[in-house]
Amino acid sequence: MSKFRVALSRDFKKPDGSPAFPDFDLTPLAQNPAVEYDYIQTNGVIGAADLEGFDALILLIPRIEPESFPKDGRLAIIARFGVGYDTVNVDACTDHDCALVITPDGVRRPVAVSIITFMLALTGKLAGKDRITRQGPEGWAKRNEHMGIGLVGRTLGQLGIGNIGAEVFRLARPFEMHFIAHDPYADPKVAQELGVRLVGLEELFREADVLSVSCPLNEETHHIVNAERLALMKPTAYLINTSRGPVIDEKALTRVLQEGGIAGAGLDVFEQEPSPADNPIYKLDNVLCTPHALCWTDQCFAGIGAADVKAVFDVMHGRVPTGIVNRKIVERPAWQDKLKRYKAAFGG
Ligand SMILES: NC(=O)c1ccc[n+]([C@@H]2O[C@H](COP(=O)([O-])OP(=O)(O)OC[C@H]3O[C@@H](n4cnc5c(N)ncnc54)[C@H](O)[C@@H]3O)[C@@H](O)[C@H]2O)c1
Repeated sequence: MSKFRVALSRDFKKPDGSPAFPDFDLTPLAQNPAVEYDYIQTNGVIGAADLEGFDALILLIPRIEPESFPKDGRLAIIARFGVGYDTVNVDACTDHDCALVITPDGVRRPVAVSIITFMLALTGKLAGKDRITRQGPEGWAKRNEHMGIGLVGRTLGQLGIGNIGAEVFRLARPFEMHFIAHDPYADPKVAQELGVRLVGLEELFREADVLSVSCPLNEETHHIVNAERLALMKPTAYLINTSRGPVIDEKALTRVLQEGGIAGAGLDVFEQEPSPADNPIYKLDNVLCTPHALCWTDQCFAGIGAADVKAVFDVMHGRVPTGIVNRKIVERPAWQDKLKRYKAAFGG
């Protein structure tokens, strides 16, 4: 094995060939004489022919299914650019002795900051105040119709207290709010250290003044925020979703927002993405929308990219990377053999 070959999905480049994320620093790959990297096709599901002869894949949007794995059995790591991996068939990765790695370190702070941004903008009535300011004296005269909500003593709730959910509570400490969370798999020690009371699902919806959704999308969480649960929320409460669109029944949420069942919502993710321009939720004044990109900053992409590159180098030098989704892989002899071969070829 003369080179460690790394594939990047083609969507890391814009159609004109320029980088889609200029802050994703590829120089560590480019400058390593033992590494060769190339871009591969992007649309839909990646095909086995495209991954033939590669040891690693850094993956943005395209899907990975069983048919994505070449017969050469060489691929040892897929590093997802971010922490969502609903586009990757995890069992297929394990079956083909390939680690699936995500980058919790890269997104923790940026996504938590976007949740705090939504909370402050919604409770501070930022969008409405911006609108009336631009209307001149007539708008300014309506200032007292746009009273914000103070946060001291109010309740911040998290559906999911993992990597991002926990960071939200860390960042929200100075606001002197009560903290509650529902997470069936929560580490009670983490919750206790953060001053978070773990509650039942219904209690979370009933008690939160600001309710943020930070759980993964899976069979259990699909439409976990539905009409029935939204009806439990206070009419003064705000809902924030930065996780995945289908975690919320968007039609039910639209109805609740139209009817004033809750005060408003901050949505970075939608059931259909990109969501069409005639999505009725866009028409609502009490909703702030961002195109699955509120956390996108120079530091966010630099951090995610650095974490992916580090994971790729870890495997290249026979080390087990952090952020592995399919933990079973670590015990599989065929994957361990791949690491041993890399270590022998490229050093430990
Ligand atoms: N908007 C964005 O740009 C963006 C960026 C990164 C991540 N995300 C999304 O945010 C999600 C959370 O990311 P993370 O890094 O905190 O992941 P994580 O896995 O560290 O945390 C998710 C938490 O949700 C919990 N959970 C699982 N099932 C649950 C359920 N039924 N009810 C309540 N909680 C449940 C888990 O126990 C875990 O603690 C990701 O799955 C991803 O979809 C979005």
